[in-house]
Amino acid sequence: MKIFIDTANIEEIKEATSWGIVQGVTTNPTLVSRERRPFKELVEEICSIVDGPISVEVTATEVEEMVKEGEEIASWHPNIVLKIPMGVEGIKAVKKLSSEGVKTNVTLVFSPNQALLAAEAGATYASIFVGRLDDIGQDGMEVVEKSLQIYRNYSFTTDIIVASVRHPLHVLRAAEMGAPVATVPFKVLEAMFKHPLTDIGLERFLSDWEKLKALKIAPEK
Ligand code: G3P
Repeated sequence: MKIFIDTANIEEIKEATSWGIVQGVTTNPTLVSRERRPFKELVEEICSIVDGPISVEVTATEVEEMVKEGEEIASWHPNIVLKIPMGVEGIKAVKKLSSEGVKTNVTLVFSPNQALLAAEAGATYASIFVGRLDDIGQDGMEVVEKSLQIYRNYSFTTDIIVASVRHPLHVLRAAEMGAPVATVPFKVLEAMFKHPLTDIGLERFLSDWEKLKALKIAPEK
């Protein structure tokens, strides 16, 4: 499973990229607005840090405007993937952009039928917002499971992105289901490294090594 980072924060992107496990970035207007920086400059900096798909969302709401805005944003860097909101206008824009060879990521997907429509339109990715479904008492990962099955049934090439990830269990379930991508916030990525037994185990190894060194028979480093 590919791990993308779900943020527009440069420090978080740089740090997580240095860990060697991040293969792409997803942003949205909310994440971008937190950075208080010119949009294009921010996107170009993100593209200079991560050599992988960088999802950037259009904010127009009608098809012609979405396509125009999308073509402009896509011209900033070859790794840009246009994030287009689910809906009639969005799907029409995805159809047009994908026929031009522009990569797209249909966002705000909350049902398997919406995932099906994204694939039918030729989207590169469909982002299922699992955390927001959980928030309203629906099982977000069940939508992922059903959508993955639909894609397998018809060999669609669209990749599901498990998005709106809130905790490491979402990532684990995504990997168990064979989701191609999970986009993970920085804090959740950090949490995935941690286990109390790892900390206790490391502490014990190091203190036992110190004891051996005290006996002066351990090889010098
Ligand atoms: O990038 C879109 C998505 O991951 C948003 O997550 O936490 O705002 O529901 P959230």
